[in-house]
Amino acid sequence: MDAEQNAIPQTNPFELFAAWFAEAQDTEPNDSNAMALATANADGAPSVRMVLLKGYGQDLGDSGGFVFYTNAQSRKGEEIIANPQAALLFHWKSLRRQVRIEGPLSEVSSAMADDYFNSRPRISQLGSAASDQSRPLDDRTTYLARVDELSRHYEGEDIPRPPHWTGFLLTPRAIEFWIDRPNRLHERRRFTRTVRGGWESTLLYP
Ligand SMILES: Cc1cc2nc3c(=O)[nH]c(=O)nc-3n(C[C@H](O)[C@H](O)[C@H](O)COP(=O)(O)O)c2cc1C
Repeated sequence: MDAEQNAIPQTNPFELFAAWFAEAQDTEPNDSNAMALATANADGAPSVRMVLLKGYGQDLGDSGGFVFYTNAQSRKGEEIIANPQAALLFHWKSLRRQVRIEGPLSEVSSAMADDYFNSRPRISQLGSAASDQSRPLDDRTTYLARVDELSRHYEGEDIPRPPHWTGFLLTPRAIEFWIDRPNRLHERRRFTRTVRGGWESTLLYP
């Protein structure tokens, strides 16, 4: 690539994300769909953790978005209820690329959460149903015993999705792409939504 040429095209950011994500799925050794999720409490104090991207696209919600699943009674769940503004970050190390996504979160429909919960392996369903995510745990055996107990309770039956186990959709107001370029003269392009619902973009100094 010519050092003076732009590597990040001025295109639809969902299409660009799809192209980069497809490359990451080929190159990352594992969890190419892992992303950092930053939330903040009502006072604005931030916290961040990894979650897995389980859906994205322009057809999700009113204007497209990115979906993950979690326990709404977890620390992140409580922060999201207090303050729905969040940010996502992908860092694909093998590609030396970063994508930053910012916007509000909203809960997905219960039909969508059911569909995803029902697609998970039974042991994962049991693990999430048995977990009081983010609460103190006296000993790991307590958690494993709860998994066993639920497994016996639902023997021969489907495991119902716990109502607090759900998905969240981040509706992006900005998506920023960063790519490593020679001699640390990197390239960044930030896409922001226009008032008419389209996208505009600009390069930023790296
Ligand atoms: C690669 C990776 C993927 C993860 N994916 C999820 C996920 O999709 N959902 C989830 O609730 N936790 C996931 N976790 C665990 C979270 O990082 C975190 O420990 C947990 O959700 C509790 O976070 P909280 O106390 O801030 O709510 C993942 C962790 C890693 C390292």
